[in-house]
Amino acid sequence: MYGMVNSAIMDLIVATHGEETWQRVKFKAGVEEEIFISNDAYPDELTYRLVGAASEVLAQPADVILIQFGRWWVLDTALKNYGHLMKFGGRTLGEFLKNLPNFHTRVVMMFPKLQPPMFECIDLGPMELRLHYRSHRRGLSAFVIGLLEGLGKMFEVRVTLTHEERLDDGADHDVFHVSWSEAKT
Ligand code: HEM
Repeated sequence: MYGMVNSAIMDLIVATHGEETWQRVKFKAGVEEEIFISNDAYPDELTYRLVGAASEVLAQPADVILIQFGRWWVLDTALKNYGHLMKFGGRTLGEFLKNLPNFHTRVVMMFPKLQPPMFECIDLGPMELRLHYRSHRRGLSAFVIGLLEGLGKMFEVRVTLTHEERLDDGADHDVFHVSWSEAKT
C-alpha cells in the first residue's frame, strides 16, 4: 500500500499513545523505516505487520485497531490532506456513499499504482442502503466499519451498521447494511 497508509498508522499511534509506543510497535513489526514516503508503494505485508504489532503492544484485537484507524483515516488523514477530494465525494452521507464506487478513481489519478477497494451501493430508501465491499486483500472489513463511522461523524449523523455478510464466514464478499438519522452524534 502507498506510504501514506503506514504514515497514517504512525500518526494515529503517536497521537493516541505517544512516540515511545510507536517505537515499540515498529520494533515488534521489524520495520526499520524512520518515515514512510507517501507516494511510494510499500508491500501490503508491512502494513499488516504494523497492525499486528500494534495489536500486541496495545493489547487490543487487530479489528479494534482497524476500526480506530478507519475513523482516523477519514477524520484526520483524508480531511486534513485531501479535503478537496473528500468535498467532491458528496454533500451528505447518502450522496457520499452512492459516489463511493467511483471515489478511488480520482485517487488513482494521483496514485497510479493504487489497488483500490471495490464498493457497490444498493439504495434502500432516503437514509438507508446496502454497501457491498470487495477487495483483493483480506481482513480489512473492520477498517471499512471505522471508515463508515468516521464518515458519519464527518456528516454529523448517527450511523447504524449491520455487518450482514462476511467474507471470513464463507460469504462471497462483505455486505453492510447502513442507515443513519440526522440526530447529531
Ligand atoms: C481522499 C481520501 C482517500 C484517499 C487519498 C484514499 C487512498 C487510499 C490508499 C492510498 C489506499 C491503499 C491502497 C493502495 O495503496 O493500493 C486506500 C485503501 C482503501 N480505501 Fe481509500 N482513500 C481515501 C478515502 C477513502 C474512503 C472515504 C473510503 C471509504 C469508505 C476508503 C476506503 C478504502 C478501503 C476499504 C481501503 C483498503 C484497501 C482494500 O480494501 O483493498 N478510502 N485508500
